[in-house]
Amino acid sequence: MKIAVFDSGIGGITVLKELREQLPTHDFIYYGDTANVPYGTKSPSQIKKLVVAAAKKIKKLNVDALVIACNTASCVALEDCREIMGETPVYSVVEAGVTTIVRLLSQNSKTPVVVFGTKVTIRSKTYSTYLKDILGNHLQISEQECPLLVPMIEEGWLNHPVLHQTVAEYVKPHLSLEPGIAFLACTHYPWIKSVFEKAMPGWKIVDSAPQVCEMLARHPLSHTSSETTGKITWKFSDPHTDYKNYQNNPAPF
Ligand code: DGL
Repeated sequence: MKIAVFDSGIGGITVLKELREQLPTHDFIYYGDTANVPYGTKSPSQIKKLVVAAAKKIKKLNVDALVIACNTASCVALEDCREIMGETPVYSVVEAGVTTIVRLLSQNSKTPVVVFGTKVTIRSKTYSTYLKDILGNHLQISEQECPLLVPMIEEGWLNHPVLHQTVAEYVKPHLSLEPGIAFLACTHYPWIKSVFEKAMPGWKIVDSAPQVCEMLARHPLSHTSSETTGKITWKFSDPHTDYKNYQNNPAPF
């Protein structure tokens, strides 16, 4: 099948990487709205417009499935994307993320959870609302916005001392908790998973990509043999996007 993977920038490549490992013979079209990255510091109405415009472009590509590999876009415009894509299934990293956290908490629902994401994702309270609906209000959940991380990651500062210092600042308010689950609710952050691991000793650092793969594996076409050959087509709204480093280097996780 032909699967579109959409993000504001190069974050969704962390999801694409896992999808390719699980579905190596399927074709992927990666669409990064790099002319407009970052989404996470814009207003929800601005983001909605950008996501709707991107979804309309993707619709024309006649894909079999769309993965919204952007938490920010999913929090703001998932239903709009589903409407635009019609019959084509749309998978969201937020739905995958919530399922992942619920599964992990099924062993011990008292485990503290900290959700890290963009300003828009965190202020939408999407994760805490879904999780409390499913697991109850006793859940120990905190949410931390990290607006400086996406620009640094887009810039390729994956191991820069300033990045380490910034992550340390963002995690600091949560280190007094018992170590629990640190959920990376932004697809850019798995690029710097090792930085979070260093800053949060004893915490389990988790993201949604494995669950997205599980969801896609249930797509009716995922097991059928087809004409696809495992090709990736790269599309960026800013044609000058320098993604080669990310394309060639496997993410450091
Ligand atoms: N990678 C995106 C996410 O998962 C958003 C990054 C941004 O554009 O701010 O939220």
